[in-house]
Amino acid sequence: MRKGIILAGGSGKRLNPLTECISKQLLPVYNKPLIYYPLTTLMLIGIKNILIIINPGEEKLFKKLLGDGNKFGIKISYETQKAPEGIAQAFLIAEKFLNGDDSVLVLGDNIFYGDNLIKTLKKACYSNNSATIFGYKVKDPQRYGVIEFDKQNIVKSIVEKPSNPKSRYAVTGIYFYDHKVVDYAKKISKSERGELEITDLNNIYIKKGNLKSEIFGRGSAWFDTGTHDSLLEASNFIYTLEKRQSLKIGCPEEVAWRNKWIDNNKLESLSLLSKKNEYGKYLKDLISLENN
Ligand code: TTP
Repeated sequence: MRKGIILAGGSGKRLNPLTECISKQLLPVYNKPLIYYPLTTLMLIGIKNILIIINPGEEKLFKKLLGDGNKFGIKISYETQKAPEGIAQAFLIAEKFLNGDDSVLVLGDNIFYGDNLIKTLKKACYSNNSATIFGYKVKDPQRYGVIEFDKQNIVKSIVEKPSNPKSRYAVTGIYFYDHKVVDYAKKISKSERGELEITDLNNIYIKKGNLKSEIFGRGSAWFDTGTHDSLLEASNFIYTLEKRQSLKIGCPEEVAWRNKWIDNNKLESLSLLSKKNEYGKYLKDLISLENN
């Protein structure tokens, strides 16, 4: 069974002073901590065994929020990354956890939303592809890893933060790999900025003809919440959708319950933790509204 990794360390320098004394992934996006969103994405795909990689000294806070995952009917373990030495380092840290299994890595500051998006992710999750990445059309591709396609729309290369981007498709922060990823991660060396780059890892799969890319279309939203503005934009987006639909986005209690990983009693007890607000009321009402 494929295992999940959430990379939730990083220096968060662009968010200073917000991140002076707290992990970016614990900051609020409207009414939930940021990490709830990537966590829920993994749960919606059906991933139950998840490793969260965090900065040294932050374990207590993450554990206070998420514990061992039991409250969401999943298993969460933790590892620390001594210094933010790149996204691909996740696979060196996760080697023992993965123990030869396939994986899906999601960045702790990425939010995914859309009707067909989970279907697309599930397809990749349960396929036999060696590696799958997801492109999203952006207006400022220079900030991202950018996909270059050949005439058959097959990925030709990925270039990290190019000054002359070959397309407007950025690589988003969710990646599916087979068990070989750990060995490949051991083969790459640090880039000029001192990081093990996920782009180098993806380019190994491309060279072997083993990387598949899917596109998240117009009906989906992808946020990387690394700056003050993008954090606020994500909050506004979630606020607007939730108000309009009376449905929550990125609510792990709800997903656990809908997946039947927790029962009505457990959901009700989780709702009591937020009984003084609308979040708790929402969880409590799920059970009765479901029967209407
Ligand atoms: P980034 O936003 O690229 O980096 P950062 O979080 O260090 O922020 P800044 O650039 O403002 O200093 O990271 C993307 C995500 O990946 C984010 O959730 C943090 C995580 N990350 C790690 O956990 N370890 C790492 O070594 C890197 C590079 C990122």
